[in-house]
Amino acid sequence: DTEPGDGAAPPPALGYPTERTCPFSPPPEFARLREQPGLPAVEALEGGRPWLVTRYADARAVLGSPAFSARFDTPGFPLMSPSDVQQRDDRTESLIRTDDPEHLRQRRRLTRDFTVKRIAALRPEIQGVVDGALDELLAHDGSADLIATVALPIPSRVICLLLGVPYADHGFFQRAAARALAGDSSPDEVRTALGELGDYLAALVREKVRDPQDDILSRLATAYLVPGEIDEREMVTIAMTLLVAGFETTGNMIGLGTALFLTHPEQRALFTAGDEQLQRNAVEELLRYLSIAHHPRQFAATEDVTVGGHTVRAGEGVLISLPAVNRDADAFDDPDTFDITRPAQQHLAFSYGTHQCLGQALARMELLLYFRTLFARVPSLRLLDAPEDFDLKQRSRAHGFRSLSVAWQEDAR
Ligand code: HEM
Repeated sequence: DTEPGDGAAPPPALGYPTERTCPFSPPPEFARLREQPGLPAVEALEGGRPWLVTRYADARAVLGSPAFSARFDTPGFPLMSPSDVQQRDDRTESLIRTDDPEHLRQRRRLTRDFTVKRIAALRPEIQGVVDGALDELLAHDGSADLIATVALPIPSRVICLLLGVPYADHGFFQRAAARALAGDSSPDEVRTALGELGDYLAALVREKVRDPQDDILSRLATAYLVPGEIDEREMVTIAMTLLVAGFETTGNMIGLGTALFLTHPEQRALFTAGDEQLQRNAVEELLRYLSIAHHPRQFAATEDVTVGGHTVRAGEGVLISLPAVNRDADAFDDPDTFDITRPAQQHLAFSYGTHQCLGQALARMELLLYFRTLFARVPSLRLLDAPEDFDLKQRSRAHGFRSLSVAWQEDAR
């Protein structure tokens, strides 16, 4: 028999919270954890018991600090999914899993194609893709699945256009990416899906080397692969990162954002009546409120650091829930209210610091043009399912719909 406090067995670690009670909001467990002093410990698949960050200020501190490594081989790095295990075992060197200065060296090859200026110049092309997808939606007889007709096609067509990937192959790469990202795929299933995608992109890259076009993969192949600065494996990893990051995330935002507006008619009316500045702010609020990056940001401390009054030791893991920090009342007034007029710009939906989203200007432009055009052309759009019947992805790295049934009247143009 032991006295309380004897033996100092640590309290049991939590499972990473996944149970949602509202389709648009993070699991309520995060709100409870945010109120607790210090940092709770969470179960990892491998890599000990990482500490979980749910407060906004703590997240900014970790994401802005060079004392945290994003590499799989840093001692204490927490593996949270089969896909993490597969990538660690196969030594996949993705941009997201490197540290500065190597990370910046790799990232600099890509930044010029994703600047605000470059994306602004693409506005007419992106508008054309949005218009085409809405034409396809309206070709249906008054009702359709928004995910298959609009939410996936828009960002997929745009990223295909930019990278120089044939959109005709979208069935193949969308299925492969979905299998690689699903939380319930085994490491072998992830490996097979990524292997197929890799073979496909390797063949495409060879074609770009033979016959370069005006697209990002051709430019990267000509500038870095042909002179031997990177090898084909690295080139394929870059192509895969850009392709997969480019459609799955924005597709989730389109689906969830549409449903959120349709269940908040007063916010939708404000958006439709508003000028472009308000509409841009609405996109920031959608990003904050929905925070689709459900899978935690993962790091390992390389020195002792104090976070939220708690000392994280070198060799310990840290997880950050972006959905949780974007609902922190210390950073956003009345955080659980969807309000497109609030100042939302400082949200962390694209993360923060050196690994913040490379494609954020592109995602913002796609979302702005989509919502503007959708509500102008299809004012009678409505949901066919009640929120409790929504067909949401289960245990996926990013939150979103599998399908979403919508309907409209003859008023649509
Ligand atoms: C990184 C979110 C769209 C490319 C990230 C990260 C987040 C994020 C949270 C940080 C990852 C981490 O630290 O683990 C989003 C959201 C999007 C979106 C919410 C849509 C609304 C895009 C698009 C692209 C893209 C359209 C197109 C190329 C990338 C890349 C990184 C990244 C390459 C890695 C950056 C680095 O490690 O330096 N994104 N993203 N994302 N995103 Fe996005």
